Amino acid sequence: MGSDLSNEIMRRRTFAIISHPDAGKTTLTEKFLLYGGQINLAGSVKGKATARHAVSDWMEIEKERGISVTSSVLQFEYEGKCINILDTPGHQDFSEDTYRTLMAADSAVMVIDGAKGVEPQTRKLFKVCGRRGIPVFTFINKMDRDARDSFDLIDEIEKELGIATCPINWPIGSGKDFKGVYDRKSGNIVEFADTEKGTKEGKEIVISLSDEEASLKAIGEEAREKLINEIELLDGASEPFDQEEVNNGKLSPVFFGSALTNFGVEIFLHNFLKMTMSPLPRVSDTGVIDPVERGFSAFVFKIQANMNKAHRDRVAFMRICSGKYEGGMDVYHVQGEKELRLIQPQQMMADDRHVVDKAYAGDIIGVFDPGIYSIGDTICSPGDKFRFSGIPTFAPEHFARVRQVDTMKRKQFVKGIMQIAEEGAIQIFQEENYGMEEIIVGVVGVLQFEVLQYRLKNEYNVEIILEQLPYEHIRWIRDRSIDPSTITGTSDMKRVRDLKGRPLLLFVNSWSIGMTLERNEGLELDEFSDN
Ligand code: G4P
Repeated sequence: MGSDLSNEIMRRRTFAIISHPDAGKTTLTEKFLLYGGQINLAGSVKGKATARHAVSDWMEIEKERGISVTSSVLQFEYEGKCINILDTPGHQDFSEDTYRTLMAADSAVMVIDGAKGVEPQTRKLFKVCGRRGIPVFTFINKMDRDARDSFDLIDEIEKELGIATCPINWPIGSGKDFKGVYDRKSGNIVEFADTEKGTKEGKEIVISLSDEEASLKAIGEEAREKLINEIELLDGASEPFDQEEVNNGKLSPVFFGSALTNFGVEIFLHNFLKMTMSPLPRVSDTGVIDPVERGFSAFVFKIQANMNKAHRDRVAFMRICSGKYEGGMDVYHVQGEKELRLIQPQQMMADDRHVVDKAYAGDIIGVFDPGIYSIGDTICSPGDKFRFSGIPTFAPEHFARVRQVDTMKRKQFVKGIMQIAEEGAIQIFQEENYGMEEIIVGVVGVLQFEVLQYRLKNEYNVEIILEQLPYEHIRWIRDRSIDPSTITGTSDMKRVRDLKGRPLLLFVNSWSIGMTLERNEGLELDEFSDN
């Protein structure tokens, strides 16, 4: 039993895919699933679109705007490994959700468009990976199109993201001249074949670069010479592969390929699975929780309401951090201080949700939430009691005052806005002495205002008016016993409280923060609040 448990956990690989929109994340994910035998795209003309809609279009707004709002989780098997992919929403405005998703991953795959290099969203997401110190693997995509110089791309990743890179393979040309990739370890050329969409790789031709005749025949004299020169340069200049450095998030293994034509995907997946880690120990308030040694534990990283409109359901996504979940098992909800049973725990397998009766550390399960869970909550075995260290709350940068149009719908309004806030997509604040009459909403990305408006109308039948406010900075007052009205601030400073009643201040610019600190000796302000 013990070793079964250990085997199951050790064969799990849980990672997130990050990229700037359009770099090819969806296409790459789809090809991964293809290798896992989860979907068969062969013969399906609209394969990509179908898969995309099936797996992540949970909200109407996504279809309307053509962006992915929610993050989905997919599980599949490949080469004896059980793989969990956390898809992250690509739109830059949904950053907070994405950040939380990254908390549930053990490593990240960064997809970069070979013609574009490092783009703003990649930079932002990468920063979060950096904060967590998780390993980052780079897949430089779209090599079947004209790409930028490979050395330039590598250079840019190193400089812009501040991480060392180690190319595992190297492209031979790009666009019309794309001939394949060179595997640095084996010294072999894997020739590019525009694999039919939807079919697996495997037919590619492998030739040793040192076999002059065969390699000349395969890629031609010019490309061969260029490759030899580039490899020489690369061997002299690049970091050697070092697994430890990869594990610490200091060195990113780089692969080249073309997700659309399904080239280099299997090479990537095969190598990546060897280099990435099984579920990592997690830090709690009572020390490190070992994934195998400890009984069942998990934390909530995402709450999604109304995934199925007909049922008005609300699902809490949990990342299992240790042990094993079994259907019908009792668990202890630490923050709620209650023993309970997880309701309808589900897992996503490609395009279908199904109830699970077994899940292991590394897996993600979605459980029905009757309104008891909050982001960051710990669930463990009865008798155990610890909290996983807080999922950071990201400081909102945009604020708006929200009023409902029809004051008769007060109840629905409060219920709706509270629920959406509990999901973590928005944060809500009350003005001092105002109660729920006036609500101030804070978000990380402005698009969330639209999502809020849309969801309140669509799911709660409440129309709202949003009045954007000029504040950009938020600071919690560390000493909660301080009466905010005694603080001498600047004239544009606003005193509010969060849902937990903690006092905080909103500022228009950082100059006002400095001024307020200066005027109130001993006052301590925090940019983040702990859960
Ligand atoms: P995302 O999830 O990162 O936003 O990107 P997605 O996979 O949706 O890909 C964005 C566009 O780039 C798609 O084209 C997709 O077909 C294309 N693409 C992805 N990988 C490659 C690649 O390796 N080579 C080339 N040439 N193109 C690639 P689209 O026109 O927006 O969509 P569609 O009409 O193909 O569905």
